[in-house]
Amino acid sequence: MLRRTLPRLLASAKDGGIHNFPSLRGHPAARANAREAAENQSALAAKGASKPTTTVKEFRVYRWNPDSTNRRPHLQSYRVDLATCDGPMVLDALQKIKSEHDTTLAFRRSCREGICGSCSMCIDGVNTVACLKPIDTDTSSPTVITPLPHMFVVKDLVVDLTSFYQQYKSVEPWLKRKTRTEAAQGREYAQSPEERRRLDGLYECILCACCSTACPSYWWNSEEFLGPAALLHAYRWVSDSRDEFGRERVQALAEGWDRLYRCRMIKSCTATCPKSLDPAAAIAAMESLHQLGKP
Ligand code: SF4
Ligand code: SF4
Ligand code: FES
Repeated sequence: MLRRTLPRLLASAKDGGIHNFPSLRGHPAARANAREAAENQSALAAKGASKPTTTVKEFRVYRWNPDSTNRRPHLQSYRVDLATCDGPMVLDALQKIKSEHDTTLAFRRSCREGICGSCSMCIDGVNTVACLKPIDTDTSSPTVITPLPHMFVVKDLVVDLTSFYQQYKSVEPWLKRKTRTEAAQGREYAQSPEERRRLDGLYECILCACCSTACPSYWWNSEEFLGPAALLHAYRWVSDSRDEFGRERVQALAEGWDRLYRCRMIKSCTATCPKSLDPAAAIAAMESLHQLGKP
């Protein structure tokens, strides 16, 4: 798919109109990444034409296999020719490493377009999803890829997300009603356009865990503090006009003080979210609702 869309991205980047590319509208981080990828590919093509050898880029990838008890975690170096890489994103380079260099490398991925949240990892010190992260085509320095920080590693770039998903489940991320008139009549629960708009910036979360694993409060209190991803989802349901348990949801979060109030507004979560969401603002909004006794 990237091979098909890249020429359109390149053309858009050249005429300055990348913001008009339909799937990028309303997604600032994806737009910035697409622009960077398109520009990098143009630079790479120019570089490849003049000096073919300079298109080889080093990737240092975290490796650890629980079955190799005599080998400690380490960074393994791979040299990838970007001129023959299938696409411009870091996930494309990892796919190439796995298929051509080392089939034992383990990482998660599925959609290749920033929807499933599987390919989250730490790239050059920043948590993001590899399929939306453009390869840095500066071949003079390596790209370092490690697992999401402060998580138990299952193998290589795969981390254990069991606790993260349990925390998500604990906020009961589904519609809860006291009255069921519409459902009894086989009708949908209607929303006005304004009520629907309140979910913008919340429903887009792909549960990649980049935010929670970038949060110092979550690092040190990962069993007590729910972390920004689960709390953003809690706020998504508190904000939903069709849900009738908003007050109870906020009360339940605030009762276990650590679950909500461990947030220190450092905002690493918001800074790192690959979907340009603002979990810190969602947490602040729920703290305000609790202190004001609403909703
Ligand atoms: S704003 Fe709160 S949730 Fe976000 S990184 Fe900071 S402490 Fe963590
Ligand atoms: S808020 Fe952003 S970083 Fe956090 S899980 Fe959702 S998409 Fe990922
Ligand atoms: S592969 Fe789905 S978000 Fe990257």
